[in-house]
Amino acid sequence: MRIVLVGPPGAGKGTQAAFLAKNLSIPHISTGDLFRANISQGTELGRQAKAYMDAGNLVPDEVTVGMAKDRMEQPDAANGFLLDGFPRNVAQAEALDEMLETEGMKLDAVLDLEVPEDEVVKRIAGRRVCRNESAHVFHVTYSPPKQEGVCDACGGDLYQRDDDSEETVRRRLEVYHTQTEPIIDYYKAQGLVVTISALGKVNEVTERAMEALRGDQ
Ligand code: AP5
Ligand code: ZN
Repeated sequence: MRIVLVGPPGAGKGTQAAFLAKNLSIPHISTGDLFRANISQGTELGRQAKAYMDAGNLVPDEVTVGMAKDRMEQPDAANGFLLDGFPRNVAQAEALDEMLETEGMKLDAVLDLEVPEDEVVKRIAGRRVCRNESAHVFHVTYSPPKQEGVCDACGGDLYQRDDDSEETVRRRLEVYHTQTEPIIDYYKAQGLVVTISALGKVNEVTERAMEALRGDQ
């Protein structure tokens, strides 16, 4: 299956993507994680992306689309993928459609995670991420690690993302409403959108998502 996950910052896209990708045996491709990996490795691409990310703005399409395309062309993505954080504006959605068309492929579904803004703000404020592995995500109250500041899965340091400050989160939400939400209508016109509530326990949301995707197959 080829799936796009869309939803505001802090909706739980990364959290859900980890479970959904495993259930569906497809790779989880997160452009945010790819940028953060480049930043921690000190690459030129990471250097270009960092200032945009820290300000809560989108990294320019020229940089993002090429990076996403390279990742989608890896052998593990030949039979499907779960895109998290890409596309993030209509130009990127059009670039993705073009890419897929060239290969004779199509998207199967766009899963839209709905969460009220006050909940999103709480989720982001308490988020802690593992330095070793971006899929190891915790929350100080909702899913606290056994030992404060230490990853349960690998013992790595937990840290708060640079772009999770209150001011940057406000900007990221604004960017989501003005630039990313329009892709939902873009994909509705293609009949691809399934919307679910992302409120409730993590496993309840995963079940809801799996049901919605099954209904769409
Ligand atoms: P990106 O990394 O994609 O960030 P985002 O979209 O803002 O999403 P987040 O990672 O903040 O949240 P999430 O929905 O994954 O939530 P999570 O699962 O962690 O992008 C960052 C930046 O990179 C962008 O601002 C931009 O600059 C750049 N970028 C990336 N892609 C780009 C693109 N295509 N084009 C241009 N620029 C791009 O969950 C959040 C918290 O809630 C966690 O603590 C978690 O434990 C908790 N939680 C999750 N589910 C639940 C639940 N059900 N109940 C209670 N708590 C929960
Ligand atoms: Zn870890």
